[in-house]
Order: sequence, then C-alpha cells, then structure tokens
Amino acid sequence: MKLTLRIWRQSGPRDRGRMVTYRVEDVSPDMSFLEMLDVLNQDLIMRGEQPVAFDHDCREGICGSCGVVINGRAHGPERTTTCQLHMRSFADGDVVDVEPWRAKGFPVVKDLVVDRSAFDRIIAAGGYVTAPTGSAPEAHATPVPKPDADVAFDNATCIGCGACVAACPNGSAMLFTSAKVTHLNVLPQGQPERERRVLDMVEAMDQEGFGGCTNTGECVASCPKGIPLASIANLNREFLRASR
Ligand code: SF4
Ligand code: FES
Repeated sequence: MKLTLRIWRQSGPRDRGRMVTYRVEDVSPDMSFLEMLDVLNQDLIMRGEQPVAFDHDCREGICGSCGVVINGRAHGPERTTTCQLHMRSFADGDVVDVEPWRAKGFPVVKDLVVDRSAFDRIIAAGGYVTAPTGSAPEAHATPVPKPDADVAFDNATCIGCGACVAACPNGSAMLFTSAKVTHLNVLPQGQPERERRVLDMVEAMDQEGFGGCTNTGECVASCPKGIPLASIANLNREFLRASR
C-alpha cells in the first residue's frame, strides 16, 4: 500500500503547530498503525529529519498511551486502540490525517504526544481503596455478588487512553471518571471511601479543565473498551447520593 499522511507537527508546547504531508510506501495491510508510523520515522531518520513523536508502550491495547485522532476519529475507523488498528482498515492510495488528542485537559507536548497526567491526578484524588492489599486474600473472605463483580470488572477495563475526552465536543472526562468511580464504589472493598471518592474525583475532574457531559454519547462510540453510558448515569447517582 502507498499512503499520503498529513500529520500534525509541533516542536513543543509553545509552537503553533501545522499539518505536514508525507508519503509512505511498502505498507503491509498487516502492519499496525504504529508500525506504519515506525516505517515513516525510519525513513525520516535516514533522511536526517526529525521523526514524528507519538506515545506508545504495550502495543497490545492495555496501557492506553497510544491514542491519536485519525481522519477526525479518536483511535481511527475501528473501535480499538491505535496500536491494535491495522492498515487493512485503509485502502491503497488513501489520504490519512493524523492529529493529537484535542482537549484543554490534554495539552500537546510534541507532535502527537499529549500530557495525560490530568487523568493521574483524578485517580490520585480517589481511585484507590484503603483496605489492606499486601497479600493475596482468601477468595471467599469477602463475598461479592456476581452482578456486582461483573460491573466492577467491566469498568476496571478502562485503560485511561483518553479517547472519550478527545471524541467529546465538550472535552468531558465523565466516561473515564465514571468507570473509575463505578469500579470501586460497587465493591465491598470500596465502601469506606465511597462518598469521599466520588466527590473528590469529580472535583479533580473539574479543576483539570474537562467539560461537562451533555449526553452526546461520542465518548462511548470511541471507547476501545466498551465502557457504557450507564457508568456516567451511575457516577451522577453516586454524586447525588454523596452530596445529600
Ligand atoms: S473510558 Fe474508554 S475511552 Fe475513556 S479513558 Fe477509559 S478506555 Fe479510554
Ligand atoms: S500502546 Fe498500549 S494501548 Fe496502545
């Protein structure tokens, strides 16, 4: 495959940034999107030019670091992470726009890399339990009803990628925050901090400059882990309960 890439280049936080056009050739349909960027970067390095900076780590859909906006969609045309997106989702000759997450809470560091540490600060505000976790507990010591365990597990699959924020017209972090709150608030181990957790995490979310939720659902449509809108409804319920 041969592709034309239009990639956001920005040398640093103070640079205005611009789209730059590149051609890539010999792209295999079986390459991941990041491997295709590796091919481009190898070519740029061989020509003595600056490679395109992008974030990545696990390259298997777990760490959440690799998100970029591809042709206007967070993580591109499939409902998966950018590292798990394959070039067979594109056609030979395609023109592909690649940009960083665009949100007030995620300032651009360089090229496609944004600072997602706002998510870390939301987690630090309440995304933990104070129950002792030093050793493996006996499996039946704390019974958890199966429906609650399923809800906790489903919400725990959030990888903190930030696609929900990037896709939201309000730049809202409600889906992320709701997944973290729901994961812990539904479990017995999360009860001691239940009220404090939701109040503190929502306050941290607001302080970081993320917008409010107006139920557009773009977050859910772009979430690679299938976190549902029901989690946001639960966040609102938990917030009202804690505010009484
Ligand atoms: S809710 Fe989904 S899109 Fe948002 S950070 Fe978690 S995994 Fe990513
Ligand atoms: S590199 Fe870890 S989720 Fe994509």
